[in-house]
Amino acid sequence: MLKWNDNYLIGVEIIDNQHKELFRIATSADDLLKNEFYTDKYDKIVEIINELKDYTVIHFKTEEKYMLDIGYKRFLSHKAKHTDFIQSVNKINLENVDEQQDEYIASIIEFAVNWIVEHIYENDKLIVS
Ligand SMILES: [Fe+2]
Repeated sequence: MLKWNDNYLIGVEIIDNQHKELFRIATSADDLLKNEFYTDKYDKIVEIINELKDYTVIHFKTEEKYMLDIGYKRFLSHKAKHTDFIQSVNKINLENVDEQQDEYIASIIEFAVNWIVEHIYENDKLIVS
């Protein structure tokens, strides 16, 4: 899983702090998944992934408010990317997670983190450029 890196900073403190928090949450899910000594970890992992989902929604709202406040011209297309991501995440079904599904959980975390990094570089950095 990709780790937080200061190259991801966009220079807006509230947004950068929220991006760091997203990484913190994703890292804790990933660490728990890789922990072989922890039995019955799946409920906890699902809980953390749901936390990541909820925090993403909060983060997107903050970012969208910031874009509106500064009169950002590409607001609508940027917001559409957020909406797409939330829709993909909502399609994920975590209800049947069990010991067989490490790879599935790993792929969800990987997908979310890769999306966030790509989105920071391709969209979030444009807000301030
Ligand atoms: Fe964004």
